[in-house]
Amino acid sequence: MKNENRQVAIVGVGLIGRAWAAIFARAGWNVRLTDPHAPTLAAAPGLIRDELRALARHGLADDPDGAAARLTVAASLKEAVEGAEFVQENGPELVEQKKTIFAELDRLAPPGAVLASSTSAITASRFTEALPGRARCLVGHPVNPPHLVPLVELCGAPWTSPETIERTRQIYREIGQVPVTVKREINGFVLNRLQGALLAEAFRLVGEGYISAEDLDHTVKDGLGLRWSFLGPFETIELNAPGGIPDYCARYTGFYKELAATAAGPEVYQSPNVDRVIAAWPHQPSPERIATLTQRRNERLAALAAHKKTKNNPS
Ligand SMILES: NC(=O)c1ccc[n+]([C@@H]2O[C@H](COP(=O)([O-])OP(=O)(O)OC[C@H]3O[C@@H](n4cnc5c(N)ncnc54)[C@H](O)[C@@H]3O)[C@@H](O)[C@H]2O)c1
Repeated sequence: MKNENRQVAIVGVGLIGRAWAAIFARAGWNVRLTDPHAPTLAAAPGLIRDELRALARHGLADDPDGAAARLTVAASLKEAVEGAEFVQENGPELVEQKKTIFAELDRLAPPGAVLASSTSAITASRFTEALPGRARCLVGHPVNPPHLVPLVELCGAPWTSPETIERTRQIYREIGQVPVTVKREINGFVLNRLQGALLAEAFRLVGEGYISAEDLDHTVKDGLGLRWSFLGPFETIELNAPGGIPDYCARYTGFYKELAATAAGPEVYQSPNVDRVIAAWPHQPSPERIATLTQRRNERLAALAAHKKTKNNPS
């Protein structure tokens, strides 16, 4: 199917919605934008065009202005979903709002359209159960910023049809994302469960004074993270013992069992530990600092994405 006839509705054009719009427009889709907050909606096309131009500077978009020309601001939700093959919802992270938005989407979108939510932590069964079209609803959870970090976690409710999951996987793949399927609903899906395990241990180690916060960060960005940008944990351990994963398990799981038995608990996020972690960070938060570091993060991520696109780096 030629992408110029394909249409997506981006519902909610905050941080995540704008990134999805850039991704679909770059892939040649016609993108209709909607958001009840008029100033946000009015500003969106310009901001998305700027992101597309930034992607082009890193070789990650061929024709940013052509892509930006495929963006349309819709006058209503109804107009946004008219003729849409796919809907990506990016409204507030509140279950009641997701219920209201999805009821509207199911009523207004063409019967064949997939309805995907970007929700970080609300499973689809909590906001789609009562809908006549619930089989076409699912979560497509991106990672911030989605136009630079391609992973998307797909997770259906028990009533989501396998065809919906398969079509969504295919569409995300076609637009340059990397979809993974979470086979049944679980709190935090997979990415945030992995992130949560690491963060809890980081809070414990810094809070209990085993290491400084800066050195903890070095341990990830100059240690584990270098491998993780192209190997997953299973690919990593396969190479850490001459006999691969069975050998690794025979050698090292005794040690990891001990660690698992004393894993960091919820108290690491409570006083007094959390206060010690906050005090251990040597910088004060300010809007200028966050903006500068976000810009730097995006530049570095774009360079890494460009590197990962090269032929010699098939992962
Ligand atoms: N920010 C992240 O790191 C991140 C990462 C992955 C997923 N998400 C998820 O993406 C979604 C959006 O997050 P965000 O960070 O873009 O938030 P955001 O606050 O930047 O954007 C939310 C947008 O939704 C709009 N909105 C409010 N009511 C609406 C309605 N009824 N219909 C449509 N739009 C409505 C708001 O005007 C706003 O523009 C959330 O579900 C969030 O959990 C966020």
